[in-house]
Amino acid sequence: MSTRREFLIVSTVLTGAALFSSRAQAALPPLAVKASYKVGFAQSESNSPWRLAETRSMRDEAAKRGHRLVFSDAASSSAKQASDVNAMIAQGVDAIFLTPREDKALVPAIFSARDAGIPVFLLDRDVSHGMARPGRDYVTFIGSDFVEEGRRVAEWLIANANGKKKIIEIEGTVGSSPANDRRKGFDDAIRAAGGFTIVASQSGDFSRDKGRQVTETLIQAHPDADVLYTHSDEMAMGALAALEAAGRKPGKDVLVVSIDGSRTAVQAIADGKIGAICGCSPFFGPKAFDALADYAAGKPVPPFIKNEDQFYVASNARTLLASTF
Ligand code: AHR
Repeated sequence: MSTRREFLIVSTVLTGAALFSSRAQAALPPLAVKASYKVGFAQSESNSPWRLAETRSMRDEAAKRGHRLVFSDAASSSAKQASDVNAMIAQGVDAIFLTPREDKALVPAIFSARDAGIPVFLLDRDVSHGMARPGRDYVTFIGSDFVEEGRRVAEWLIANANGKKKIIEIEGTVGSSPANDRRKGFDDAIRAAGGFTIVASQSGDFSRDKGRQVTETLIQAHPDADVLYTHSDEMAMGALAALEAAGRKPGKDVLVVSIDGSRTAVQAIADGKIGAICGCSPFFGPKAFDALADYAAGKPVPPFIKNEDQFYVASNARTLLASTF
């Protein structure tokens, strides 16, 4: 080694490579078979009926099976969610259910849990597979196919637009897997169909209030927009309020389409204000705890456990209202 600088560069590269290969080859931590587990559930936020329904489903299922759920709410902060996971590791939970708010920021916390011998199960949102992989760094991702959700909404729109073609897209949390994939599924299908233009696209952070604010601004900037696609029903409800405040008639001069299937939004289909919604099930409890039990028993757990989603339109909205959240 001729200089200290060269030594440092080479040793850094070697250390990185060794770390990567040990990470890639290490087996997932095992989970002992027990009658009762202490399981962490690191929720990202509690700002919508969807999140509350997910938490309820996890609490109910844990209680039904006699497990203790250690719950944390990251209050819409990825930094807090990472420190919540680290607190669970320090408490010595048996396993962790995590809903990663963003697809990169939570990866170090997944590695920390794995390296501490605690298996992690991702619920509802996935992380970047360029950084971490199911079956290697975490057990599995349980959730919907978000690309498919975006595509199903686009397909409905293409068949039912009746000449409407200028689209405003209100996206979910920047850097989250549902925002990335719902944009991809929708945008690809819309571009392939031709005849539509996405005139503006901005994040409303999956929040009702931000959805309202963003719609308010974008509808002023693009008064000729006649379609509004929101990545979640909370943002759709905010958008309806903004459209009405601007004197626009949702369902008549602006066609609104969304994702989730919350009770208020499905009611808005029945009321003629929203055209269609692709559901996204928040009921994770049974699948999450089945996966945990299978994993402990040494049964194979697939890398992706898919939730099937309902599709809501005017002809089924009233009938399906009772099964919404
Ligand atoms: O990750 C799932 C999405 O997150 C839901 O569709 C949305 O409402 C929530 O915030």
